[in-house]
Amino acid sequence: MLFFEEKRREVMLHIEKFMLEKKDEYLKPIDTIWQPSDFLPDSSRDTFFSEIKELQESAQGLSYDLIAVLIGDTITEEALPTYESWLTMVQGVSRDEEGGWMQWTRHWTGEENRHGDLLNKYLYLSGRVNMRMMEISTQYLIADGFDIGTGHDPYRNFIYTSFQELATNVSHRRVASQAKKDGDTLLSKMCGVIASDEARHAKAYKYFIGKIFEVDANEAMIAFEDMMRKKIVMPAHFLREVGLKIGQTFGHFTDAAQRLGIYTAIDYVDILKELIEDWHIESTVDLNETGEKARDYIMNLPNRLLRVAERMKNPMLEYKFSWING
Ligand SMILES: [Fe+2]
Ligand SMILES: [Fe+2]
Repeated sequence: MLFFEEKRREVMLHIEKFMLEKKDEYLKPIDTIWQPSDFLPDSSRDTFFSEIKELQESAQGLSYDLIAVLIGDTITEEALPTYESWLTMVQGVSRDEEGGWMQWTRHWTGEENRHGDLLNKYLYLSGRVNMRMMEISTQYLIADGFDIGTGHDPYRNFIYTSFQELATNVSHRRVASQAKKDGDTLLSKMCGVIASDEARHAKAYKYFIGKIFEVDANEAMIAFEDMMRKKIVMPAHFLREVGLKIGQTFGHFTDAAQRLGIYTAIDYVDILKELIEDWHIESTVDLNETGEKARDYIMNLPNRLLRVAERMKNPMLEYKFSWING
């Protein structure tokens, strides 16, 4: 056991060097990256009220399901303190403020913070949302925390974030194109820029795990298998509305996302396939018996999941979220 922990620490020391080095490649300079105010009506201008009116008129065309998905996505982004505290709880990494782990975590958090900020302000101005209900759900998601099966293991954490950033990229990108179809070009632009942040973040986390595979393939493989057996659970899994228990809102949220094709069971499989490709899982050979079994499990998983996805019916159940007016 001691050997296991020592090896983890040694590998992470090696990886943190890359985190520090790649921070400026995968994250953008703070002074010039987009900010929420680049997209929102400027309250210091005379045109403020007419701009809001315009924003509200475009938002009228958005379907009920799309608003529901957007609110779920926004709450997920707004629960950022949950993710930051979770990243800083990881074991086997240096907590040196100047070190790779802390530097990356803080800078990543800084970028992510703009997402919830932008979407929250948009939804507030849109006139379509019961903000109080949405805010209660946000507070719950932060207060409840989450258990996503990674423990405090850095490998599992990075596998999770690789998956999660790809999933949020898909979701924001699809909301962007649906919003465009519904006639809301402003919302479409906003979700588009958020999606491209997520894509950059995904590249970074995939790169870090790729580096871990180079030096500790066996343990990385076992961690990957373990995360896939547990299934990657979205933070939104823990959503709840007033008077409901944890998890009761999530089903309705995914139904809406599945109906609109924003994020589906097929997307889950596609993300898994992308990770298998990028991490060269199939051709990883330097493994012990457990590692080989893990690799075989992962390689067989996409087809198994596809068969399950094909049998899934499109959810028809209508649900009234407390978050949405009217
Ligand atoms: Fe985000
Ligand atoms: Fe992200």
